[in-house]
Amino acid sequence: MDFSKELINWYSDNKRDLPWRNTKNPYYIWLSEIILQQTKVDQGLSYYNKFVSHYPNISDLANAKEDEVLKLWQGLGYYSRARNLHFTAKEITNKYNAVFPNTYENIIGLKGVGEYTASAIASFSYGLVYPVIDGNVYRVLSRLFGIETPIDTNKGKVIFKNLAQELINKKDPATYNQAIMEFGALQCKPKNPNCETCPFLLECAGFQNKNISNLPLKSKKTKQRNRFFNYLVIEENNTILLNKRTKKDIWEGLFDFPLLETKKQVKELKHLPLSSLSKDISEKNITIKNISSEYKHILSHQKIHAIFWHIKTNQHSLLKANYTVANIQNINKYPVPKLIDNYLKTIL
Ligand code: ADE
Repeated sequence: MDFSKELINWYSDNKRDLPWRNTKNPYYIWLSEIILQQTKVDQGLSYYNKFVSHYPNISDLANAKEDEVLKLWQGLGYYSRARNLHFTAKEITNKYNAVFPNTYENIIGLKGVGEYTASAIASFSYGLVYPVIDGNVYRVLSRLFGIETPIDTNKGKVIFKNLAQELINKKDPATYNQAIMEFGALQCKPKNPNCETCPFLLECAGFQNKNISNLPLKSKKTKQRNRFFNYLVIEENNTILLNKRTKKDIWEGLFDFPLLETKKQVKELKHLPLSSLSKDISEKNITIKNISSEYKHILSHQKIHAIFWHIKTNQHSLLKANYTVANIQNINKYPVPKLIDNYLKTIL
């Protein structure tokens, strides 16, 4: 069987018409690939269109304000990707005179660009023979070849990389790479793959061994850490206090509210570590207007349990110094995590 030829045939019959497939512009391809690492095609499309229309070329992105870039990214999560996009646009503008590098080595040298993204850009923009290996590719190859080596081990990575290098169509790496990802997304799906209509049904080791639902294998489950967030929602004269997150933690650069993190769920004011806001603040200075029910927010390695304490305090002026006093009318200008956006929608 000529796998790459069959695959490309399948692709030409089944592919979706997507804007980043009608261009060789490395800037657009880079944007699309970074966005698509965060979300599926359906949702990614609107983000891609927003970025391209706000920043038609790389210097436009380089010259943007970070808050604005984060705001456009809002809802996708994993905000370091957006910060890296911005950083790298500036780097390309300064170091390469706003011309996207055209060798694999220089592309992979860019911040936020790993092997997958570098291979995608190198093949789609410049026709270079670098196979992409993403979740789709691991799934398709592990099933088709019945590979049971876990994909999150060094041994597994080497096996899949060698196989991908063997299989890639050397004359048309761009179409081959698009095709294998599209095949993973549409045909060889994680759940309920369309095996009955699959052109590789007879050759597929996973199907023949009734092993499809177990593949690809991973050696370990990702651990999830529970965190308990108590947000203080402090409104005063049509303003609300926001906290710009600066620490090396989730949501760096985004805004949330003054935050008290606790080891477990807290239901009473007296159990909140209020003194960490300011030593002069205690329960006595606070009246509660509302306590929300728990909001759960799942990230790749963390589960956030958030409670929003809508309060009033006679120590407002003291707190103001450490936070951003945001006008409620302008609140939509601030980049915020989805969790905060969801809560704001309930009170505004
Ligand atoms: N997922 C990641 N890259 C993609 C691409 N170029 N087309 C469709 N889905 C993708």
